[in-house]
Amino acid sequence: MRASNILGIETSCDETGVAVYEPGHGVRAQALYSQVELHAPFGGVVPELASRDHIARLTPMVRRVVAEAGLQLADLDAVAYTAGPGLVGALMVGGALAGGLAYGLGIPAIPVHHMEAHLLAVMLEEERPHFPFLALLVSGGHTQLVHVEAVGRYRTIGETLDDAAGEAFDKVARMLGLPYPGGPALASLAEAGDANAFDFPRPMKNRGLDFSFSGLKTAVRLAVGGDGRAPREGRLSDALRADVAASFQAAVVETLSTKCMRGLQAAGLERLVVAGGVGANRLLRERLRSLARAAGVRVYYPRPALCTDNGAMVAYTGWCRRAQAESEPRIIARPRWPLDELAPVS
Ligand code: KG4
Ligand code: ZN
Repeated sequence: MRASNILGIETSCDETGVAVYEPGHGVRAQALYSQVELHAPFGGVVPELASRDHIARLTPMVRRVVAEAGLQLADLDAVAYTAGPGLVGALMVGGALAGGLAYGLGIPAIPVHHMEAHLLAVMLEEERPHFPFLALLVSGGHTQLVHVEAVGRYRTIGETLDDAAGEAFDKVARMLGLPYPGGPALASLAEAGDANAFDFPRPMKNRGLDFSFSGLKTAVRLAVGGDGRAPREGRLSDALRADVAASFQAAVVETLSTKCMRGLQAAGLERLVVAGGVGANRLLRERLRSLARAAGVRVYYPRPALCTDNGAMVAYTGWCRRAQAESEPRIIARPRWPLDELAPVS
């Protein structure tokens, strides 16, 4: 395959992401459409609405991004798309367009693992790590520590036993009456709060590399004095809500950062990559930066826009996985897909 112009399509959840990546040049153009407003009245992602909206947005976005890259569809050399994990209907939309384009243009379609794309997004930055490194993958559905030997050589050495970190942010945000998606809203409410106001638990902090966030979530629920289902806005003072947000965020950040440092030590690694939506959290980034400095470890982050879902990371991962391109287009959509099952890229 020629080394140029890979279209990346991301539709695994509630963001439509499209980008054109050119090896050696970088991201030539990209666009992102967030469905936040569509799902906000429901307090979370409604899968059927997500699929329908991807259908409406995706084709015009592809046209626009390809034009912005100064290209025509015929100039594309491959189409990479998120094939999982994610919402199956949403994945099917991206897979169908990628397969159709590949078929029509006579170019390969490359199925991409969404978490691998998060993990490799940092490679789009100027400051990029050498292998091997430890990756903290923290998104809405995943919380994992992964020993990364090379592209495709992944070993999960720690993961959550219950909720993902992003999921915990979203649920606690809901208890505090914050709009979906909760993570960024909770983080900004926390700015005004006292992180020491509540002594929330740090489950499993002192042992092992696995995570657990459900006990913390329950502790917050008890603190706000309800069943946690109904938004509590209006029933708690603003100051108290900010204190809960700050104390919760501090507990999550402390747990995540402690496990990262332990994981680095256990694996004998000196580089840490933080990826996925929660990686955009400012306190987490600061905390890891200072712990890493003290331990002589280098920490690498994608910029916040590359931490959350986007098409660029899919296009780049497609390039890394070009050897696995499908020559006969078929649509792959895998709602569940463990990262460790990926084949190494030689
Ligand atoms: O990686 P991502 O965009 O999508 C998934 O693959 O899940 O991650 C979304 C998650 C959500 O749970 C969102 O609340 C959380 O990342 N998130 C944050 C922040 N920005 C996004 N959590 C904490 N602080 C943030 N600044
Ligand atoms: Zn994601």
